[in-house]
Amino acid sequence: MIKELSVALLLVGSSSVLVAAPLGLPPVPIPENNPQSPEKIQLGDKLFHDVRFSADGKVSCATCHAQDKGFTDNLPVSVGFNGLTGTRNAPTVLNSAYMETLFWDGREPDLEGQSKQPPINPVEGGLSDHGVILDVIRKDPEYVSAFDAVFGTDAAGIDMGHVSMAIASFERTVVAGDSPFDQYQYGGQKDAMSEAQIRGLALFIGKGRCVSCHKIEQTQALFMDNRFHNIGVGFKTIRGKEQETAAAFLKSKRAGADVDVTVLTQKTMSELGRFAVSENVTEVGAFKTPSLRNIEKTAPYMHDGSLESLADVVDFYNNGGRVKDSDPLSGFLSGGIRSLDLSKSEKKDLVKFMEALTSPNLNQFTQR
Ligand code: HEC
Ligand code: HEC
Repeated sequence: MIKELSVALLLVGSSSVLVAAPLGLPPVPIPENNPQSPEKIQLGDKLFHDVRFSADGKVSCATCHAQDKGFTDNLPVSVGFNGLTGTRNAPTVLNSAYMETLFWDGREPDLEGQSKQPPINPVEGGLSDHGVILDVIRKDPEYVSAFDAVFGTDAAGIDMGHVSMAIASFERTVVAGDSPFDQYQYGGQKDAMSEAQIRGLALFIGKGRCVSCHKIEQTQALFMDNRFHNIGVGFKTIRGKEQETAAAFLKSKRAGADVDVTVLTQKTMSELGRFAVSENVTEVGAFKTPSLRNIEKTAPYMHDGSLESLADVVDFYNNGGRVKDSDPLSGFLSGGIRSLDLSKSEKKDLVKFMEALTSPNLNQFTQR
């Protein structure tokens, strides 16, 4: 059961303050079994930044979700311990509190479950099991007293459930709205966006049809739909091999292979997208609609980091889900993805509009 909290806890400096959800965002959903508290959030913040939870002692959550990079790493695909690379682009943690599923293929249902995966993934934290994390925590007096204060447990009683609850609590404070778009759309400030950005918004809703997946509602806008679509990204990697890749994936999944490991270590398996979870062939190559908030800060784009700039993204959509309009079209493309016939200046306006989605309080996070 999810209970809605009408205020979000934000950390400012070293102390916590209660503030309303930023303009343009709905209340942050807080699960009933993991209520927020300032102490829990602070503990989660510390865990999120602790590099000891990795095989080489150098990788924390923040390595790939850095505050000064819009909570991403600004790399095409992430680099984990010992410089090992994975198959996917690190999405931002900002506003992940609003996501109904986590990861590009939605394989985790909540933030609590999600946070247990990276430390033991062979191309991320690289630990053999969670025991290493618990050892570090139980031997660190600061952690022991913090876990006692938050969860009322002694050192021996600390488990991964506690660790993941604290990290998720911290992540639920990393929310950002109140962008120039929000001030224009919901704050009644008609001069908050430039003329070009206002034209871009009209294109986003109208000719570009972007809003059919990147949602804008009456009182708030998450710019996502919590659904999965194949828009053609990565299609070239798997083209003509869809059937055999899907079959090989199912065979290894049935034999007990860990889906998290398979999709992040094998490039062709990664391209199966939502299929890896739903096993529905129509979802081969379908990925979760990402939010476009703060999108200017989180280049490169798409699940494989294949598009460098927002101009490249707009070209991609303008060509009906292809980098070049001479590229072949994917057979499984979602409805709504077809050539848009945007003029040069319309494409520019669309980019300008997306630049209006950057939250000012992002800097508040980055200065911590
Ligand atoms: C080595 C880089 C790396 C590390 C370390 C890392 N992540 Fe990630 N993170 C990623 C990548 C890549 C993805 C996307 C993976 C996928 O979708 O299959 C991701 C996805 C996520 C998501 C899902 C966001 C969404 O849009 O669905 C969250 C939340 C997240 N990470 C939080 C964390 C937390 C918490 C930690 C630490 C416990 C962590 N990450 C450690 C690279 C990393
Ligand atoms: C059919 C649904 C749909 C429509 C319509 C759509 N998008 Fe997307 N968008 C997605 C999905 C799904 C992804 C992720 C695809 C992937 O990585 O494979 C995405 C990714 C993006 C990204 C990259 C985000 C990131 O974090 O990497 C941007 C930017 C973007 N879309 C902008 C737009 C614009 C601009 C339009 C209109 C011209 C548009 N989208 C239309 C579903 C859609």
